[in-house]
Amino acid sequence: MSDKIILTGIKPTGQPHLGNYVGALKPLIESAKTNKTFMFIADLHALNIIHNPADIKQHTYEIAAILIALGLDLNNAVLFRQSDIVEVYQLSTMLMNVTPKGLMNRAHSYKAAMDKNAAAGQDTDAGVNMGLYTYPVLMAADILLYNSDEVPVGADQKQHVEFARDIAGYFNNIYGPTFKLPNAVIGPDAGLIPGLDGRKMSKSYDNIIPLMAAENELKKKIMRIITDSKMPDEPKDPDTSTIFQLYKHFATDDEIAALRDQFLSGGMGYGTAKNILFEKINSVLTPIRERYNYLMTHTDEIDSVLADGAARARVVATATYERVRRAMLG
Ligand code: ADP
Ligand code: TRP
Repeated sequence: MSDKIILTGIKPTGQPHLGNYVGALKPLIESAKTNKTFMFIADLHALNIIHNPADIKQHTYEIAAILIALGLDLNNAVLFRQSDIVEVYQLSTMLMNVTPKGLMNRAHSYKAAMDKNAAAGQDTDAGVNMGLYTYPVLMAADILLYNSDEVPVGADQKQHVEFARDIAGYFNNIYGPTFKLPNAVIGPDAGLIPGLDGRKMSKSYDNIIPLMAAENELKKKIMRIITDSKMPDEPKDPDTSTIFQLYKHFATDDEIAALRDQFLSGGMGYGTAKNILFEKINSVLTPIRERYNYLMTHTDEIDSVLADGAARARVVATATYERVRRAMLG
């Protein structure tokens, strides 16, 4: 067990897919076996996009159920709902006062919204709410409230973690050492898993395989993976094949070596390769899916895990917030 504190938030905006699993969820579950981890469902961060409470609630359950079903070690990991800890809003309000407005103007997500508006010939701030504009301050509050050392994120979130570090620095300069300076950590497979069309698997490209897809849906999706037009007897390149790239993350070393040989030597059609991939992924995910389906019909069990997590998170959050309150207000 190391002394490092790992923290990450997952936004409840849709069903996680195989890319999220390989790039983010699997490494987090592994790391939580040996590191003190805070993992929360970032429902407040979803509010600037999702205005339907039933959707947020449903997606919150889905993510919590997936993490529990994947076997998250709930001794080392504190799993909770962001909005259950009121200190995060309080800290966010405090941090506003040391955060330069110019920093928010430089945020990639805000700039992307402005660029889109400009391209459509609209006012650059059209449709931009303060939730989107101040998103990085709330995220800094998440990170600093729990004394995080490392924040595993995808590449698109790296700037937000750097902002949290900047904001902690501004605060410490004015009020004395109060916050640790966190670091973003980007895992080796983050963002690298291809989707059905060969581009990065992503909700925004409509090319995903949902992690908890039922068996028949999983099979249908895998059969739809786009391949090149090589005939069965031709040798094929495993390293550019979506099928092989997915297989690598579910099979054993021996199985991976065997499929690589079959690709390179020819004699295996893509249809056969897809069947091998389906059988492998399905065998890994079936027990997880069963636990997930059970939890989704017993949400009181999820509520109790989240309530326990909130109680443990609150102990740290109240102590940090009290430190900040005293530093700022005397
Ligand atoms: P999406 O692109 O579907 O919206 P997110 O941006 O919400 O996915 O990603 C959440 C996490 O999952 C990040 O840590 C990210 O690195 C990881 N992730 C997302 N897509 C992939 C992918 N195709 N391959 C590997 N990791 C991914
Ligand atoms: N903004 C992150 C995302 O969109 C989710 C998130 C919210 C987060 N708070 C966080 C991630 C704190 C890491 C640390 O994916």
